[in-house]
Amino acid sequence: MKSLLPVFAALAALAAAAPAFAQEDGAKLYQEKTCWSCHGKDAKTPLLPEYPKIAGQNAQYAERQMLDIKSGARANGNSAAMNGIMVLVNEKEIKAIAEYVSKLKP
Ligand code: HEC
Repeated sequence: MKSLLPVFAALAALAAAAPAFAQEDGAKLYQEKTCWSCHGKDAKTPLLPEYPKIAGQNAQYAERQMLDIKSGARANGNSAAMNGIMVLVNEKEIKAIAEYVSKLKP
């Protein structure tokens, strides 16, 4: 039984580190899922003037818009470009990225 102690200790350490992970994830996902290619590396220099700047956007709003574009509930003239990317991210990842961009300077 004693031999399980290090495992529990490691799990407890992981659980404590979880919030920091969530933040890092958003930044990493923003790079990995190619969001920057249309919205800009700083999330405020979009590829085309009519593409939205998302740095500093409210996290809940950004999350809702991404979910709506993913589901097709939001289908504007430019949504098709974004919709193609939304298949690459799940709801958890969308939330993490929304939190990340909301903390960037607008
Ligand atoms: C191919 C270009 C492209 C890529 C790649 C892309 N987007 Fe978009 N995104 C758009 C366009 C265009 C819109 C505006 C859609 C519309 O007009 O309805 C948009 C809209 C958004 C919005 C809503 C903004 C608002 O003000 O309502 C958010 C948030 C967003 N994108 C985040 C992301 C994230 C996060 C990723 C990466 C997972 C991503 N985008 C990848 C083109 C892109």
